[in-house]
Amino acid sequence: MILKISTYGSSILRKKAEPVKEITPALVELAHNMLETMYKANGVGLAAPQVGKSIRLVVIDLSKEEDERTPVILFNPEVKPEDGENPLVTDEEGCLSVPDIWAKVSRPGRVHLTYENEKGEKIDMRDVTGKFARCALHEVDHLNGVLFVDKISIADRAVNASKLKRMVKGNQSSGNSAL
Ligand code: NI
Repeated sequence: MILKISTYGSSILRKKAEPVKEITPALVELAHNMLETMYKANGVGLAAPQVGKSIRLVVIDLSKEEDERTPVILFNPEVKPEDGENPLVTDEEGCLSVPDIWAKVSRPGRVHLTYENEKGEKIDMRDVTGKFARCALHEVDHLNGVLFVDKISIADRAVNASKLKRMVKGNQSSGNSAL
């Protein structure tokens, strides 16, 4: 089932999401619907608040190839920078909730990621790097009400200011509460 993606200006995107206490079949189904929604929108990551559910659930699939997709479902994910040498890495990001905006964001290059999979097993991943690290950081930010556009340069904010304003306005007129 394709779900509706909330966009910039929707208040749910600014809320801190609640921990998942029990991984029920309904929540696993929600995760699969999130994957389907993400694939249709050509995304690589999606967090539950983006589809109107303020819970700590994220899906990621960086494979992009239709025949060999490797989806990851993460309940209660936590991500933090690894200790030691860990310079920030800068790369371009976008977000399904902030359409048509791409901008550079600096994030830790090496992270420690923990989560529960759909079977409730605890997964502990050390020294995660590259796109998976970036995506995990971006999606866990969503669970804390943080959007990537909060972290872009002042210059990039200025360039995209009118697009952001339009999104907020669109959400106001559709009856959703604004920022
Ligand atoms: Ni996003």
